[in-house]
Amino acid sequence: MIDVSLAKDANNVVLETKNNKLVFEVEQGQTAKLLYLGLKSEMNIQASPNYTKTEIYPAFGIQNNMQHAIQVTHVDGNMSLELIVEKTEVLKDGDTETLIIYSKDKVYPFYVKSFYKSYPKADVFETWTEIQHAEKGNVVVYKAFSAYLNVPSGKQQLLKLYGPFIHESYVYEFPLNYGITQLTNKEGVRNTQSDNPAFMISYDGAFNENAGQVLGGALAYTGNFKIIFDRRSNATVDVVAGYNEEASHYILNAREVFSTPKLLYSYTADGGKGQITRNFHKWALNYNGIYGAKKANDILLNSWEGVYFGVNQENMSAMMKDFSDLGGELFVMDDGWFGDKYPRNDGSSSLGDWVTAKSKLPQGIDGLIKESKKYNIKFGIWIEPEMINTKSELFEKHPEWVIQQSNRETVKGRGKTQMTLDLSNPKVQDFVFKVVDDLMTNYPQIAYIKWDANHYMSNYGSTYLPANKQSHLYLEYHRGFESVLKRIRLKYPDLVMQSCASGGGRITYGHLRYFDEYWTSDNTDAFHRIFIQNGISHFYPVKGMAAHVSATENHQTKRVIPIKFRFDVAMSGRLGMEMKPSDLTQEEKEFAKSAIATYRNIRELVQYGNLYRGLSPDVNNGLTSLSYIADDKSDAVFFAYNPRKLHGETLAPFKIHGLNLNKSYKVYEINYKGTKPNYAEQVVSGEVLSRVGIYLPFLNNSEYSSIILKIEEVK
Ligand code: DGJ
Repeated sequence: MIDVSLAKDANNVVLETKNNKLVFEVEQGQTAKLLYLGLKSEMNIQASPNYTKTEIYPAFGIQNNMQHAIQVTHVDGNMSLELIVEKTEVLKDGDTETLIIYSKDKVYPFYVKSFYKSYPKADVFETWTEIQHAEKGNVVVYKAFSAYLNVPSGKQQLLKLYGPFIHESYVYEFPLNYGITQLTNKEGVRNTQSDNPAFMISYDGAFNENAGQVLGGALAYTGNFKIIFDRRSNATVDVVAGYNEEASHYILNAREVFSTPKLLYSYTADGGKGQITRNFHKWALNYNGIYGAKKANDILLNSWEGVYFGVNQENMSAMMKDFSDLGGELFVMDDGWFGDKYPRNDGSSSLGDWVTAKSKLPQGIDGLIKESKKYNIKFGIWIEPEMINTKSELFEKHPEWVIQQSNRETVKGRGKTQMTLDLSNPKVQDFVFKVVDDLMTNYPQIAYIKWDANHYMSNYGSTYLPANKQSHLYLEYHRGFESVLKRIRLKYPDLVMQSCASGGGRITYGHLRYFDEYWTSDNTDAFHRIFIQNGISHFYPVKGMAAHVSATENHQTKRVIPIKFRFDVAMSGRLGMEMKPSDLTQEEKEFAKSAIATYRNIRELVQYGNLYRGLSPDVNNGLTSLSYIADDKSDAVFFAYNPRKLHGETLAPFKIHGLNLNKSYKVYEINYKGTKPNYAEQVVSGEVLSRVGIYLPFLNNSEYSSIILKIEEVK
């Protein structure tokens, strides 16, 4: 039966958000089609360039001249599918609606459920698929993507994020030429020190921040992914997105349900990439796309770059005290605290042995928690629970828990001893859950966990999975990983968790539904951070963007950058520090203290405001501007960074978009160094700020100049 609650006429079903709609043709006995993705106000969709009329889930076998979303081999060896609609159903939950299209193969008892969910407030749609069969035997699934989309126009450009270790999430924009362009990852564990599974497509040539027709997409998956853009004609580009099917064919038992990851996507007819960014952020903050969305994140100090593996009671205690004196709220003890038989002194031992190293911390975690109470600061801890070193008690007990091929020598990672635990094994899942559960049961005062993962999946193979299901490991690993995270969230809903994997190796909406924040990079150089933060902000909410002030000279790049610039960059994310505060000069300490106090006043705006990017560092030699604006546009904060002095040049005025054009605003500088601001307070109209801009010539007086302005409506 075709559910008519979303039907506009006999065969067309319409799913709407605030501004947009998806229109489907669903007729019993026919293949379901997506007719249109575009503006809700379009009355005559057939006359629109956004009218595409493509199958919702093209299958391999009959028509083989296009990208396919699904490919299977039936029990009898037949390799084709011909999916026709059986019925539709509509589910409502709050303001969201989910359309389910039930299709069945014309010949075989093979079933596909296609889900389309609308998130009206954010202008976001979500699509995923469930497949099942009742054949007599096992069907092999060679490919089952989350979604297929078709993007019209002819001049499409792609925006993607790419970057390896300490260079994560840089933005790349380029034309989608004929043939295939692909975003992918095949590391098995961390999945964003490569491409990120998020993209934007501009329909009409080069991207514009504040204008133009754009489709944005983000795959919510923690594992290997593949997103293919295939231009086969002058006009349209096919997009298929889902888990990476390479080395992952799946033996599907009769009646077992195979679910794909979810693809989120958002369309704007004229808002440019800025609007897509704000839609994703709004979705994450309003529909639990990021965990703990309603609670602003604390200002924290992480011990890693302060002492690295050299953790001990004295230095932890000193950092807590010093950070508390600066006004900090949370202290996080990073790597180096654990291992009884093998204390962790470098990367070559102890992963798996999650007990305190008594030689380093004679009073254990209790002693640290006592200190944190004394200094009135919350306490958090680092773990890497999916990993193991061969030099560990865990490896002595359970060598079979490791991802491995028992008949080959193993390739190991960090410290030449690191390997990955086999999360397809329920016993390993229980172990990983227990790492967190034991910590939280023994030390319920732990407020925060940084969850790291520093290896990929070498030596592909599982001692748990049977021989004919070895190809399930990539998928089963992530089912296991998510199942552990779900158990943790059920039992510890208030625990704040950060997702980290060798820096920014785990930033996707697959992770963020369990994690409150993400570590963007082990590169803490404020110059690089401008680019990295700019990149990741395109899709992921600033509330979760851990941004830490570190020492100068910077440990990764040796660059020397003044304290104000370092703070101004970190304050446009979730502010933190990652150094020994005792290494600051007295003057720097005073600045740090006042910057932390200032951040408290702008935290809500930064973490929850609407992001309007101004100048992009990518095209301006690092010169950058951005603003966060409250929903009612009465309050905003503006950041500008000029890392390079432009000799013999004058800076053009900085335009500030997104404010109310008809209102007046008081604009004044905050977080300045010394007694006098560089920018004298002014009242400026929203229209002038947006169309003309403001002059900040002093930002070109020296290298690493920066400014933060507060903007408040004059009522
Ligand atoms: C990699 C992370 O990205 C760092 O921040 C730090 O936690 C180290 N691991 C610790 O080993």
